[in-house]
Amino acid sequence: MHKNSNRPEKPFNIRKSIESDKLEIKNIHTKAFGEKKGPEIAELVKKLFNDKTAMPLFSLVAIEGDKIVGHILCTKVKIIQTMEPVSAQILAPLAILSDFQNKGIGAQLIKEGLNLLKDSGVELVFVLGHPGYYPRTGFIPARALGFEAPYHIPEEHAGAWMVQELCSGVIGRIKGAVQCSDVLNQPEHWRE
Ligand SMILES: CC(C)(COP(=O)(O)OP(=O)(O)OC[C@H]1O[C@@H](n2cnc3c(N)ncnc32)[C@H](O)[C@@H]1OP(=O)(O)O)[C@@H](O)C(=O)NCCC(=O)NCCS
Repeated sequence: MHKNSNRPEKPFNIRKSIESDKLEIKNIHTKAFGEKKGPEIAELVKKLFNDKTAMPLFSLVAIEGDKIVGHILCTKVKIIQTMEPVSAQILAPLAILSDFQNKGIGAQLIKEGLNLLKDSGVELVFVLGHPGYYPRTGFIPARALGFEAPYHIPEEHAGAWMVQELCSGVIGRIKGAVQCSDVLNQPEHWRE
């Protein structure tokens, strides 16, 4: 676990998820995303774990005491319309149980997730999420850099489609449309 210079030492640990974590992971998404979206996101995560086209996937949990309090998932994406091979992933979803929010757990899961992706040779990471949150961990608007989302993002939400390079020089050299795994590339996951 890395130290965050802005906060005191944290009482949580981060590790890769294992098979027996899946029920707790489901509960985290169900609760954190709320009554309407929660069950849908939990189902998405379940399906992504079984989606061959999402592999390799990277799944980390944050643990406080003996309880899983947060989860981050990254799955493979392809960039089409580019001749150059590039290893890319999408971060989706990320959730922290409400009682454990605002303690830096989300930021630390993102940081450790990005480190893991980088060590695995991933060059680009995309996210569709809160434009006030993800730039804190290095994400920048993707469309202006030549990366189209799988489905049209309305102009007023353009800032929610973001990218980060884990290997310098990829942004600018590579452009194209992002295609997610079979499960994530469905239009219902790209509506507000
Ligand atoms: C969004 C979420 C993952 C953040 O996790 P977290 O562990 O609470 O966040 P951190 O502790 O790392 O960061 C907290 C900071 O981010 C800010 N923040 C949290 N959610 C934010 C949002 N949606 N937009 C802008 N800023 C946000 C907080 O105000 C806080 O700011 P401060 O440091 O200036 O006080 C968490 O709130 C969550 O699980 N929400 C429900 C599910 C969800 O929306 N997931 C993200 C989908 S894109």
